[in-house]
Amino acid sequence: MKTQVCIVGGGPSGLMLSQLLHLKGIDTIVLEKHSREYVLSRIRAGVLEHGFAELMREAECGERMDREGEIHEGFLVSDNGAMRRVDLHKYSGGSSVVVYGQTELTRDLYDARDRMNGKVVHNAEDVALHDLDTDKPYVTYRAGDEVIRIDCDYVIGADGFHGVSRKAIPKDVLREYERVYPFGWLGVLSRTKPVSPELIYARHERGFALCSLRSQVLSRYYIQVPLTDTVGDWSDDAFWAELKSRLPDEVAARMVTGPSIEKSIAPLRSFVAEPMRWGNLFLAGDAAHIVPPTGARGLNSAASDIYYLYHAMVDHYAKGDDSGLESYSAKALARVWKAQRFSWWMTMLLHTFPDSIPYDNKLQQTDLDYLFSSEAALASLAENYVGLPF
Ligand code: FAD
Ligand code: PHB
Repeated sequence: MKTQVCIVGGGPSGLMLSQLLHLKGIDTIVLEKHSREYVLSRIRAGVLEHGFAELMREAECGERMDREGEIHEGFLVSDNGAMRRVDLHKYSGGSSVVVYGQTELTRDLYDARDRMNGKVVHNAEDVALHDLDTDKPYVTYRAGDEVIRIDCDYVIGADGFHGVSRKAIPKDVLREYERVYPFGWLGVLSRTKPVSPELIYARHERGFALCSLRSQVLSRYYIQVPLTDTVGDWSDDAFWAELKSRLPDEVAARMVTGPSIEKSIAPLRSFVAEPMRWGNLFLAGDAAHIVPPTGARGLNSAASDIYYLYHAMVDHYAKGDDSGLESYSAKALARVWKAQRFSWWMTMLLHTFPDSIPYDNKLQQTDLDYLFSSEAALASLAENYVGLPF
């Protein structure tokens, strides 16, 4: 088989790029390791920044998001029971975020690819990248007993943190930066009315908690748990009791509980791989960088990678201009690191660290007090949360 751009990974990054390039007449093939049902069963991001939502519209996939997604102009922060609000709209100069689940967004992207006869190969096994440092790169995968070869101009590594693309960059070229946090988030999805119309980020001595939502009948809640915990350690009753204990009394009192329809633990990690281009391989999204979910930046960092790559590819094919491809890695990394800084800061601000000393707790408290006493600090938080410009 032959294509112009071979995209490894059928998550939001890969599908979005495929769709955008298709609309500009650039041919792509997406290779996804798992079935569509599996990809759509992963419950992940819930908050989309303005720039991501705009890309969905440009990809002609924004209709349902605009109809069913909720615009949020602020969120709440509870500090050991005391609640304050961050007015995103006011402090970002009129911007907001969209609450729309990654599952729904991925479904919309798959639907669009189907509508346009896009080539998305599921259950592609043993994907391997070859001759990336030549002008004739190719990708192979296995379907049953058959090994299939795809010749292409460029390979996009959009295969997430555990994918194969990043590993194709030679060890003496690749530099990895990483911080692993000593806790995870236990997440529960339940078909219950959300406790609050706006998200609540809760700092508490028992550990961080987050009240989020997917719709007015679907709640998404998280609590910070030790890395040693497993999902089996947490019955639904134990989860609800712990969540309530970390929230202000009046919030806990109105919490509607119910059976969990999904329960999973995500470890928290910050990670960046540099460079994001090697030869004719370009990394995008979680394949190149991971943030702890505290600042809701993960998918949103992928959005800027896709935006830069999309424009770089269009300039290459339409105008023979390679400057976007040449500057991709540096440009993408500059924004990636800002999302890293913000996510690290939100994580440090709101979590309980097992090895913290009283001095650290005082600083955390001071950081929060400063935030709510300074218009400049609130403006900084708001501009990062709604998304820095691409
Ligand atoms: P992925 O979604 O990981 O997609 C990669 C795809 O590649 C997968 O489908 C995988 O099956 C496939 N693949 C892997 N290996 C191979 C291979 N060898 N061959 C072929 N295919 C392969 N972000 C936000 O912006 N806002 C939020 O509110 C938010 N909340 C989050 C909450 C949680 C609990 C978690 C875990 C994450 C959250 N994120 C959030 C982060 C967000 O989900 C990720 O950043 C996003 O999924 C990245 O998309 P991606 O397409 O780059 O990677
Ligand atoms: C979510 O709804 O899953 C979500 C929302 C905000 C975050 C992280 C996750 O910061």
